Amino acid sequence: MKTKQLISPGSVVRRATLLAVLGLSGLAVRGFAGVDESVDALLTQMTLDEKIGQMTQPDVHALTTAADIQKYFLGSILNGGGGGPTNNVPAEWLKAVNGYQSWALKTRLKIPLLYGVDAVHGHNNVNGAVIFPHHIGLGATHNPALIEQAEHINALEIEGTGIRWAFAPCIAVAQNERWGRTYESYGDSTELVSELGVAAVRGLQGETLADGTSVLACAKHFIGDGGTVDGIDQGNTVCDEATLRKLYLPPYQAAIKAGVGSIMVSYNSWNGQKMSANKHLLTEVLKEELGFKGFLVSDWAAIDQLGTEYKTDIEQSINAGMDMVMIPYGPGQPNNFVEFIQDLKELVAEKRVSVTRIDDAVRRILRIKFAMGSFKNPYTDPALTAAIGSPAHRAVARDCVRQSLVLLKNEDHALPLSKNIKHLTVVGQAADDLGRQCGGWTISWQGETGAITRGGTTLLTAIRSAVSPQTEVTYSADGKNLTGADAIILVVGEMPYAEMKGDRTDLSLAPDEIALIQKAKATGVPVITVLYSGRPQVLGQALTESDALVAAWLPGTEGEGMTDVLFGDFKPTGKLSRPWPQDNSQLNSAVFAEPGQPPLFSLGFGLTYENSKNLSATRTTLSHD
Ligand code: BGC
Ligand code: BGC
Repeated sequence: MKTKQLISPGSVVRRATLLAVLGLSGLAVRGFAGVDESVDALLTQMTLDEKIGQMTQPDVHALTTAADIQKYFLGSILNGGGGGPTNNVPAEWLKAVNGYQSWALKTRLKIPLLYGVDAVHGHNNVNGAVIFPHHIGLGATHNPALIEQAEHINALEIEGTGIRWAFAPCIAVAQNERWGRTYESYGDSTELVSELGVAAVRGLQGETLADGTSVLACAKHFIGDGGTVDGIDQGNTVCDEATLRKLYLPPYQAAIKAGVGSIMVSYNSWNGQKMSANKHLLTEVLKEELGFKGFLVSDWAAIDQLGTEYKTDIEQSINAGMDMVMIPYGPGQPNNFVEFIQDLKELVAEKRVSVTRIDDAVRRILRIKFAMGSFKNPYTDPALTAAIGSPAHRAVARDCVRQSLVLLKNEDHALPLSKNIKHLTVVGQAADDLGRQCGGWTISWQGETGAITRGGTTLLTAIRSAVSPQTEVTYSADGKNLTGADAIILVVGEMPYAEMKGDRTDLSLAPDEIALIQKAKATGVPVITVLYSGRPQVLGQALTESDALVAAWLPGTEGEGMTDVLFGDFKPTGKLSRPWPQDNSQLNSAVFAEPGQPPLFSLGFGLTYENSKNLSATRTTLSHD
């Protein structure tokens, strides 16, 4: 196992200072230097159409035919959540992506295509890929070395499908867990997010972008996505600039220092102004003040939200500093990529967008493509395809699961369970459901219940293989059959959701799940509750009625990481990466700064087996006790 690095106050700052002292900005260290001459030489040969093509990023489904890539000189394409080839197997992904690349290489200047994908907890659109815990779980590991390793595995799986760009990591500092994207955030602490975000960038991008196994990272969503009023997705973040800089900017500063090559601009507004057109923050702060040399990509149709006329939206966003625009729609639909290309050409002709601005955008995109060595090597190593979902990759995800579990309660040593227990009863539909284990952004955009992907192990399967041959395991999804159990493991929590559909004002556990826990408790045997959720839920009686309670977050495909801890092969080491609310009035982290508002469990809380008897020593107040 890797040595655990604890987050120490100021360590991000220290690393940054060290780099500054050595005169090495992240860019120099990570291999962007020396490419600018190649970029300039290429740029002088390019027509306006070729330049605008580099700035255009349609979704694959928006293409009429793959030949559009050649026809419009497209520099990039993406597939959104749930996108990809119809026959969802790694070999088909590789074939499809290489096919798109071949069209880019048919253009006059043979500028390679950059294909982008949301690989946000593993290469999560690909059936059979290893699925890691979502960020909230990784945040609870407080272990940058492990996250770097996990993202390196993610990079290998991404490359195995011919892709070299992940729209990750999300470095939101989520303040209000009403937000349905809270699980995409490592936590509510700026420092923790900064440190873990850097680890993720390193894991994806490797030592240099030119490294054959590195993937371009994309820090997102700039800026204030996790700070919107009431946690509303794509909403408005209201605060002065000093607060914005203090709470939400440091993860970007750190990521830029670590050499992140792309940044996605957020849907949200800051004090009423959409980020997609915020010249001050995109150009003056990110590019000029922080010296970001990579490129900015818009979010999915995000510039469309600026105003009523598409052409003006384009003008505003490009002039604000947007370098590449993500355009999900194709011909026949409003605001499609062909319209984008025409409008932007007109804007240049009308001098509403300067050629200097276009050149700056294209220079930034080409700089990354050169730094990645894509001109020399436009295709990835096919040997990596066979390794997708391999046991070695799954072992790293299992380690992440193990270290992400936070033990919130453990009365009378209910945990760890003995592997020789005579009769164990497992309850809850989620206990045998990979889809619920993985959550949103898994195979489909919003996620689904059921056996959604090949490989992987549900908790029930993991339990069955962990216990001794003599142990009887009964599975009762609805909890109707609890007879004869010596202990009960009960799995409860949230159903899968993703952006736009996950905002909630009430985070209480469902009454029928509480009833199930009460019923289990009434049998008199130890009740171990495992919670699958994208954020801390309001526990109520789930906490008082359970003998042990484990927050497992959205652990992904490797259920054995949970049994490793439940049966005591590993001690729990996870610590909360955000405070746990007592009730629905405490969902916004800001409340904890007020007097008389202690959380149920503080940031950093987490029991282990040695101190499990000594509950009061580490927890704050337990209002439900
Ligand atoms: C999300 C991004 C994602 C993009 C592409 C957007 O709706 O906000 O996080 O990268 O879609 O799927
Ligand atoms: C796509 C997502 C995207 C979302 C935004 C979905 O259809 O699959 O990737 O973020 O639309 O609306």
